[in-house]
Amino acid sequence: MFEELSPEDRLALRDRLHAELHEHNYRYYVLSDPAVSDAEYDRAFQELLQLEHDYPDLRTSDSPTQRVGSAPSGEFATIEHRIPMLSLGNAFSISDLNDFYARVSGTSGEGIELVAEPKLDGVAISLMYEQGVLRYGATRGDGQTGEDITSNVKTISSIPLRLKGENVPQVLEVRGEIFMPKQVFHDINAQAEKKGEKTFVNPRNATSGSLRQLDSRVTSRRKLAMNAYSVGYVSDESVFETHAQSLDALKGFGFVVNDKVETLSSFASVEQYVERLSEQRAALDYEIDGLVFKVNSFERQEQLGFVARAPRWAIAYKFPAEEVTTLLESVDFQVGRTGAITPVARLKPVFVGGVTVSNATLHNMDEISRLGVRIGDEVVIQRAGDVIPKVARVSNSSNGDEISLPSACPVCASEIELDGSIARCTGSLVCSAQLKESIKHFVSRKAFDIDGMGDKLVEQLIEKEFIASASDIFSLTAPNLMLLERMGQKSAEKLIKAIEASKRISMARFLYALGVREVGETTARTIASAIDGVESLFELNKAFLESLDDIGPIVADHVLAFASNAENKLQVEALISLGVVVEQERTLNVSSDTDSVVAGKVFVLTGTLPNYSRDELKEMLIAAGAKVTGSVSKKTDYLVAGEKAGSKYAKAESLGLEILDESGALSLLQQT
Ligand code: IVH
Repeated sequence: MFEELSPEDRLALRDRLHAELHEHNYRYYVLSDPAVSDAEYDRAFQELLQLEHDYPDLRTSDSPTQRVGSAPSGEFATIEHRIPMLSLGNAFSISDLNDFYARVSGTSGEGIELVAEPKLDGVAISLMYEQGVLRYGATRGDGQTGEDITSNVKTISSIPLRLKGENVPQVLEVRGEIFMPKQVFHDINAQAEKKGEKTFVNPRNATSGSLRQLDSRVTSRRKLAMNAYSVGYVSDESVFETHAQSLDALKGFGFVVNDKVETLSSFASVEQYVERLSEQRAALDYEIDGLVFKVNSFERQEQLGFVARAPRWAIAYKFPAEEVTTLLESVDFQVGRTGAITPVARLKPVFVGGVTVSNATLHNMDEISRLGVRIGDEVVIQRAGDVIPKVARVSNSSNGDEISLPSACPVCASEIELDGSIARCTGSLVCSAQLKESIKHFVSRKAFDIDGMGDKLVEQLIEKEFIASASDIFSLTAPNLMLLERMGQKSAEKLIKAIEASKRISMARFLYALGVREVGETTARTIASAIDGVESLFELNKAFLESLDDIGPIVADHVLAFASNAENKLQVEALISLGVVVEQERTLNVSSDTDSVVAGKVFVLTGTLPNYSRDELKEMLIAAGAKVTGSVSKKTDYLVAGEKAGSKYAKAESLGLEILDESGALSLLQQT
């Protein structure tokens, strides 16, 4: 039907449909004041879809049709924030807030204006607009670099794809919180339960899970929402004098700014705000875990500046932990990876802090005596925000059975040894609990990162005696695996492939995977950069270890104890003989400034590279200021292709892009 139109008319039609749909969307999701019926909206939407289908050139990245999401797009690329995304200092009481107020008011003795906002419990987002059009959305990540989740962000109806209004800056970064309304959360969980699927623990996890979807069509079904809470980077000389003004401007650009935001001009009104919002909290249709108070004047903000990673001009007031009482039904003892035996309270299920709690840790025997808790007691459970629920105190004693440490390991019956207040099973890897936990650690994301080897599978493999050590993983075969429950040929082969792929591993990950006590990611990295070759792990001495950054006598002792154990040495040798290749850390001298010729260039990596893993090369490129994305497009500057490069290679060729091999990329990296 569109072929009868002239190209100009088709363009005009597209623009009209864009304008109409954006406006309807805005009225519906931002103002909650729809102007047309759903049917009318659908009709216009279908028309635009058809037009874009018939004339793909008319499709733009800010088209309202982009909100439905698109097929999986490989992994997320990373984006460096123009201005770091900081965190906030915390206040846990009115008195902490009073101190803050005094600090920001300064010596003048006069009050100061603050903007008070609910602290939404979701996921922070940075949205970059260029010429008013959404270019990308990035997560906070580590504050410096986040993940490019643009295609997911576009599915969120309260995020404008194109800014409204007249005075839109050339480049504008908007920051805010993406969250899942409580009702949506309950609906999604109810559906999942019906289908026997896993439910989300709380709306924040559901939000973050939805945003981490590689398939944005899934995100689009999750009905997420966004509130804008500040302006980040702005290209134009800032026109705003106060935070409140910038929030008003954001409203004008088409964002939702939370309707509980208020400008307060005395400490008395801060106290009242806390009181009011604490009362309203439960009735809000989104979760908040606190309140944020920000100095309104930008000039004063600048004077106050920053400490470490948080501004001095803002603070987060955290609501006190929520408390409920319930019955302590029994206590089990769990054995962890390093043999530590932890008492776990089994509780009559209660809803607290947004989740149903039926277990809580009791930490150790000292904690049990401190609480004076017995089986059958009524206990107070506390849960604050993200924190694991804990038993705070006994509210009604039952005079029931005392809780005592078992006389032997509840899993393998080995002797228990006391290590300060920690009870430890001495069974080591003979203890199936320790074995299970250490294998889960070995295959985990920061270690060997074996895709598809989840906790349940590890447990089955050990229970069915398919494996009795980490190295046994590398002797598994597909026919072996097919003997397991719910393991068809396809999944078995896929898992074997993932196991094969994990064999090339960096020294740091390898050391981390070994699960030496107190050797986390950072310590593993420190040791990795100080040794050459796996063999040297067994030749370390205490003085050398202690000379390394952040390694003290205790960690050094753990490393030496590990290295002097003959079993461990055999395990490492077995791993190597089964084909594990531990790659020495190499640090190329790449300056992380913009002098490098790759700074600002967009790279895509594909295929197997001869010397480096794709992740390593990606890290080097990013450190040199390049952007690395997952898919080839006209915006790509270079494709780095290794062996078995597939469709990306073909696409890059068809677009006439420059294609490099590993050494080509390395030589670019070294040019300035
Ligand atoms: S301001 C430097 N305002 O809380 C200022 N943050 O640690 C940084 N959050 O994850 C943020 N609601 O995403 C600000 N009204 C609000 C907020 C808010 C939620 C989150 C934010 C970040 C954390 C701050």
